[in-house]
Amino acid sequence: MACYSYSAYPIFLFSFIVTSSFIVANTGNFNKDVDITWGDGRAKILNKGKLLTLSLDKASGSGFESKNEFLYGKFNVQLKLVPNNSAGTVTAYYLKSPGASWDEIDFEFLGNLSGNPYIVHTNVYTQGKGDREQQFYLWFDPTADFHTYSILWNPSHIVFSVDGIPIREFKNLEAIGVPFPKNLPMRVYSSLWNADDWATRGGLIKTDWSQAPFTASYRNFKADGSRAWLLQQMDSTNQRRLYWVQKNHMIYNYCTDTKRFPQGFPKECAVH
Ligand SMILES: *[C@@H]1O[C@H](CO)[C@@H](O)[C@H](O)[C@H]1NC(C)=O
Ligand SMILES: *[C@@H]1O[C@H](CO)[C@@H](O)[C@H](O)[C@H]1NC(C)=O
Repeated sequence: MACYSYSAYPIFLFSFIVTSSFIVANTGNFNKDVDITWGDGRAKILNKGKLLTLSLDKASGSGFESKNEFLYGKFNVQLKLVPNNSAGTVTAYYLKSPGASWDEIDFEFLGNLSGNPYIVHTNVYTQGKGDREQQFYLWFDPTADFHTYSILWNPSHIVFSVDGIPIREFKNLEAIGVPFPKNLPMRVYSSLWNADDWATRGGLIKTDWSQAPFTASYRNFKADGSRAWLLQQMDSTNQRRLYWVQKNHMIYNYCTDTKRFPQGFPKECAVH
């Protein structure tokens, strides 16, 4: 039961107005910011809401989603991926709108045998159509510590970043007829599941269930739908960083996959 003095009332009212007029940042407490949506106890919120762990065993994976929906914003999380032999496992962190004609912005982390590199897989769906994959190796071991993975989404572009370094930019090219995710609010989702039919070396390496349960850890989840992000553009420093990642760490780009697009590349490939 709420019980506040008259003097506190205006402050309460003020904060209510502020939070309801722009959908702003979440609280930084997983207990308040997310719902655990599947996994029957395999997802856990620990340390008074500061840490969340997802786990996967032979019977099931697990996942969570943000309580709020956002139309544009910046979505950061610190993530420590499944260590050691994570082959066959996929950890995903993504934005998605509901419905049959949905929009989606994906980070997927494809596990590997101990000592072999994870693949960071990215994709953008508009109105239910994806097929825009770019994949990367990281320049560090993502299982040794927490690293920050971010999605910036505003009306002019989508930027995927790792530790503040942009790895991919998907521009709004509606002007040349490329659909771009807009108008449909999205929720933030994350999950850990078994995908050993395709994830590691194209499905060649299967999940070693003797290593289960597999666990990924999350902290500092920050979903910020404030207007500050709407005009965010890429400055020249970040342009250079993006170029460095694309040149040195990208291992797959749909825009150079001639076998896949024998009739010619999607339109955005001429610009990206
Ligand atoms: C994972 O590997 C580290 C060393 O690289 C080791 O200390 C740890 O016990 C291993 N964990 C499991 C679950 O095998
Ligand atoms: C796993 O390691 C192999 C060998 O180093 C590499 O070819 C592959 O890209 C790595 N990642 C995945 C997810 O298969």
